[in-house]
Amino acid sequence: MENKFNIIWYNELDSTNSEALRHIDDFDNLSVIAARCQSKGRGQRGNRWFSAPGENLTFSIVLKPGADGLRKISVRDYFDLNRVSSLSVVSFLSILGVEASVKWPNDIYVKNRKISGILIENSLAGEEIASSVIGIGINLNQTDFPELSNATSVKIITGNSFSVEDALELFCKEFGKTISLLGSNSLSETYEEKLFQKGRLCRYSDYIRDREFDGIIKGVTESGRLIVKEGEEERTYAFKEIGYIL
Ligand code: BTN
Repeated sequence: MENKFNIIWYNELDSTNSEALRHIDDFDNLSVIAARCQSKGRGQRGNRWFSAPGENLTFSIVLKPGADGLRKISVRDYFDLNRVSSLSVVSFLSILGVEASVKWPNDIYVKNRKISGILIENSLAGEEIASSVIGIGINLNQTDFPELSNATSVKIITGNSFSVEDALELFCKEFGKTISLLGSNSLSETYEEKLFQKGRLCRYSDYIRDREFDGIIKGVTESGRLIVKEGEEERTYAFKEIGYIL
């Protein structure tokens, strides 16, 4: 597939995801809605996404599986879009000199600090994903995070500042490479290699059983459930069923 991203910059939007969803029929596959400033950035679980105006990347990629040679994606494989998005951020950051990992399901961490978050909103047509809005926030040049205690940025880690426009072009190149892995084993293999805390004994909250425990992340199932081993027992968790205690 030839990847022709169409990056559309806005000085201010409420949320790039909201804008993409409002006009989903008007945006082609691989449109990228980017805002220098978001007044109502949205995060997972109804949280807000805070980002200082002009300093970071806040954008949404519109995907229309089945268009322009992009393979169709069945609802069963929806987690592959999390894999593609997370790995694109990790490889983009690596080019900027930042070694990051994927805190399942799709936060991007550097050591114990969050550098990027992803919010994917899919529309379905029967058993297939008709369109997907992949919203990504990456902390680039911001060094002061008044609202957040565990945030970090490329500038904090490397000391270097980057143009947001150039950075987004670079990100799209990485995304284009990663999306070509859709349907191959190497997509989940690479995701597993980059998994935060994998193979280490760490503490978690089990929200189903309402208890904390020490366990080891073993991987992620094809359908996107986290596999965690406690002693001899292996369990799998959906999003919101388990929390990290950092
Ligand atoms: C999270 O970690 O909770 C997900 C954060 C996602 C933030 C991005 S910024 C661009 C896009 N537009 C939004 O309103 N949210 C996503």
